[in-house]
Amino acid sequence: MALVTGASSGIGRATALRLAEGGAALQLVARRADRLEQTVAAARRHGVSCEGHVLDVRDARATTELVQQLTERQCPIDILINNAGLARGWDDVVDADERDWQEMLDTNVLALMRMTRLVLPLLRARPYADLVQVGSVAGVQPYPRGAAYCASKAAVEAFAQALRQELLGSAVRQLVIEPGMVATEFSEVRFHGDAPRARAVYEGLEPLSAEDVADAICWSLTRPPHVCVQSMLLMPTAQATATQVARRPR
Ligand SMILES: NC(=O)c1ccc[n+]([C@@H]2O[C@H](COP(=O)([O-])OP(=O)(O)OC[C@H]3O[C@@H](n4cnc5c(N)ncnc54)[C@H](OP(=O)(O)O)[C@@H]3O)[C@@H](O)[C@H]2O)c1
Repeated sequence: MALVTGASSGIGRATALRLAEGGAALQLVARRADRLEQTVAAARRHGVSCEGHVLDVRDARATTELVQQLTERQCPIDILINNAGLARGWDDVVDADERDWQEMLDTNVLALMRMTRLVLPLLRARPYADLVQVGSVAGVQPYPRGAAYCASKAAVEAFAQALRQELLGSAVRQLVIEPGMVATEFSEVRFHGDAPRARAVYEGLEPLSAEDVADAICWSLTRPPHVCVQSMLLMPTAQATATQVARRPR
């Protein structure tokens, strides 16, 4: 059974549906009830059991209650996809809005760390288990006007590296996936709903799709238990680094 955060859109939704296709039962988390329900319905069409939980992962109490409930029901969680996250704003550090920083750090770092801590006992109780941390190329190649987002994803890398050493000797594998540009609602969220500005990010090149990332995650999950894909930098062919892309001339 897999627990996927941020399953109402983008990478989380695509990964949930790929897992459903492979027969996994699902526990899905996001804030937007209507969009979450659409993923739940689509997953159930694959014939698997799927429950949606409307939850803001920044809410420590609600997150703790959810995991307690899953524990009491003896839900056999053997996959955690820590995907919920966002970039907010595109500013030099001096001009940045601290509310954007707070939202990114609370979601991308603290909530991911908390979810990991709470779910780990469930993962450890399984014969084999997988923990997938959705990082970003931003966590390994920081770029200007994204300092706080890059810092949040670098924190995911450091957290995961430390945890990996604690997990040694257990049957829990941990993957940190670091995607480059993926066409999801990500840029629209980053630009506070400015759709034309978000579309321009992907103009003249073919970005990754959410399904491409889901495919890479599911590939790592389906390796034999003695094989652990520790990290994966997954880029569109048209992107060399976090900031260097090849765009077709207009
Ligand atoms: N797209 C890219 O280019 C890219 C590249 C590298 C890494 N990533 C990472 O990939 C992950 C998924 O992003 P995406 O590209 O798929 O963007 P997306 O389409 O905007 O999806 C983000 C998901 O996270 C959920 N979420 C955000 N804040 C949440 C909160 N406080 N509580 C619960 N759920 C929350 C959203 O659901 P609700 O709004 O319904 O809560 C949504 O389902 C993020 O961690 C992002 O940093 C994206």
